[in-house]
Amino acid sequence: MTKKILVLDEGTTSTRAMLFGPDGSPLGSAQHELTQHYPAPGRVEHDATEIWHRTLACAREMVEKAGGADKIACIGITNQRETVVAWDRNSGEPLSKALVWQDRRTADFCERLKSAGHEAEVQKQTGLLLDPYFSGTKMRWLVENEPAVKAASDVGTLALGTIESWLVYKLTGGAHISDASNASRTLLLPLGGAQFDDGLCELFGVPKSALGEVTDNAGDFGVTLRELFGAPIPITGLVGDQQSATIGQGCLTPGETKATYGTGAFVLANKGHDIPSSEHRLLGTVLYQGSGKRTYALEGSVFVAGSLVQWLRDSLGLLGTAAETETLARSIDDSGGVVIVPAMSGLGAPHWQPEARGVIAGLSFATGRAQIARAALEAMAHQTYDLAEAFAADGAKWTSLKIDGGMSANDWMAQDISNLLDLPVERPDFVETTALGAAMLAAKGAGLAASLDEASQTMRGAVGSFEPSMSGDVRQARLAGWRKALTAA
Ligand code: G3P
Repeated sequence: MTKKILVLDEGTTSTRAMLFGPDGSPLGSAQHELTQHYPAPGRVEHDATEIWHRTLACAREMVEKAGGADKIACIGITNQRETVVAWDRNSGEPLSKALVWQDRRTADFCERLKSAGHEAEVQKQTGLLLDPYFSGTKMRWLVENEPAVKAASDVGTLALGTIESWLVYKLTGGAHISDASNASRTLLLPLGGAQFDDGLCELFGVPKSALGEVTDNAGDFGVTLRELFGAPIPITGLVGDQQSATIGQGCLTPGETKATYGTGAFVLANKGHDIPSSEHRLLGTVLYQGSGKRTYALEGSVFVAGSLVQWLRDSLGLLGTAAETETLARSIDDSGGVVIVPAMSGLGAPHWQPEARGVIAGLSFATGRAQIARAALEAMAHQTYDLAEAFAADGAKWTSLKIDGGMSANDWMAQDISNLLDLPVERPDFVETTALGAAMLAAKGAGLAASLDEASQTMRGAVGSFEPSMSGDVRQARLAGWRKALTAA
C-alpha cells in the first residue's frame, strides 16, 4: 500500500492535520480551534502549549486514520508566520505567551527605528519594512519585558522561534531550526544571506544565540519522537503558510500570482531567483529554498480578511454563519453606500499604518445586515485592488489572479474580486492549497517527487474561473467610495 503524507497546517485561528495521498488526494482532516487572547487593544497572544497539544491531538487522529505511523511517509508543516514563541531549551516549555503576527505592541519601537533612519537599509537587506507585524521586534519585546524570557537569555537557555520552529522542537525532542520562508519574516535574515545576521540581530536587540539554524524548505529535518505516534515519522517539508499556498497554487514560474483569503489576505508573486525590491511598499520574501538556492516572491500582506466576517459573526452577532454573507450580499443590488475599511489591526500593504483602525462609513437608517455583510465582502476586492496597483507600479502587473483559502469558497466574493480588478480569477476546486503546498514540499523532501514541478503536476487538481462583468462606472464609483473611507481609518 502506498504511504500517505501528513500535513500540519497551523493557522491563526485553528490548527489542523490533513492526510494526503501521494497523488494529492485529500484523505481526511482534523481541526481544533485556537484560543485568541486579547489582553489589551492591539495585543494578540496565543498559548504555545495549547498549539502543541492541539496539533498533537489532530496529528494523532490522522495517524490513526492512516492505519498507524508506518503508513505515513512524511510530515509537512505549514504555519501562520511571524508569530513568536520563547521557550527554554532545558525544560522544552514556553516562557511566555506567544506574540501573534497581528500584535501591534512594538509600534513605538518600529517608529523609533524609522525616525533614526533605519528603514531603507532594513528594507534593502531583508525585503521587509519597519512594522510590528514582523517577528524581530516581538522577540526583542519578550526579552525586554518578560522576566522568564530575560532570565533564560541571561543563562543561555533561551530559544526563540516561529511556529514551525516550535513544533519541530517538540516533535523531534530538541532540533532547533527555522525554514528560510519563515526566517525571511523575522527582519533578522538578509534575503541574500544563508543565516540570521549579526548586525540585524544587534539592531533589533535579539540574542542571536537564541535563534535556530536556517534550513531549506524540503529535506531531512529529523524524525518525530517514537512515543508520540508509536513509530518515528520523518519531517521533510517546512514552509510559511502563504509561501505554501503559492506553491500549492502551482505558481512555480516568475510572474505567477496568488491571493489567499484566510484570517488575512496575502498576495504573492513568484519573482524567480533574483532578490526582489519594491518602490511601492510591497515586501520581498523567500518563496522557497532548495539545496541552499532561493526562489523569491514579492508580497502584499493585508491583515484582515476572514477575521472581519468572524468579527461580524462572533462579536457583533450580525451573522449566524460566515457562509450567510453570500446570501445576504446577493439579496441586494449594492451596499447602499456602506463601505468597510477593516483596519482592526492597522493597515498593512501598501499603506502600512500600524495605528489605523477600522471604519464603517455611509451608514443610514436603510442600512441593515445585508448592506454590512455585502460591504464586508466588497472590502476584500478593495484591498486586493490596492495591492494590484502597487504590484503594477513595481513592474509586476497581474494578468490573472489565482485565489484560494477558506473565504475564497464564497462565489459572490470571487466574482466581485474579478469584477473590481477587471481580470480573470482562477480558483482550484480544492481551495486548501496551503496544506497542499506543504504536502508537495514534504513529498519532494521525502523523495516521493523528484522536483516541485513534478509534485505540482501530480498533486494539483481541477481549476475553475471567474470572468469580469462590471461596468467601468460602477467600478469607479466603488473605488471612489473606498478611497474616501480609507482617509478616515
Ligand atoms: O503572515 C501571517 C499569515 O501567515 C497568517 O496566515 O492563514 O492565518 O491568515 P492565516
